Amino acid sequence: MKKISINSNFLVYDSIDDLPSQAVKLFESAKKIRKTAYSKYSNFSVGVSVLMDNGEIISGTNQENAAYPSGMCAERTALFYANSKYPNSNIICLAIVAGSNSKINKTPIAPCGGCRQVISELETKQDSSIGMYFMGEEGKVVFTESIENLLPFQFDSSFL
Ligand code: THU
Repeated sequence: MKKISINSNFLVYDSIDDLPSQAVKLFESAKKIRKTAYSKYSNFSVGVSVLMDNGEIISGTNQENAAYPSGMCAERTALFYANSKYPNSNIICLAIVAGSNSKINKTPIAPCGGCRQVISELETKQDSSIGMYFMGEEGKVVFTESIENLLPFQFDSSFL
């Protein structure tokens, strides 16, 4: 038996104003689209903007459904569209802004497990890491340079 440790690395910014200008622009877009989230059941809205290496920004929101499991997270809405529209381009990074519609959330909210798996798949596909910024409606912003920091022991196509 041996014990192993896995380190995860994150940058924590005090506010959006401290981010590189490219990330500020991405968050502007993510915050704008978040307002259009179709989140009538949870009242929790998420906006995501994805920066591609061709300079395009693809954005999406969570899409809920009366049949709850038929809904989709904002991250996957945006990432699936990005990979549909530009299948031969790489993703540089994404910005995620999330929170309840009825209270101001100041805690950075990381993507759910299913979305982490999808980001991991896309990192494997493009063979390069995807940076990720996430925040609540206001306040601190967390950055991590790869999904590896949020999803150790990843499942990928090499196991199939
Ligand atoms: N949601 C996302 O869009 N992304 C996540 O990573 C977690 C949750 C959405 C799904 C659902 O519409 C609402 O937030 C509440 O779970």
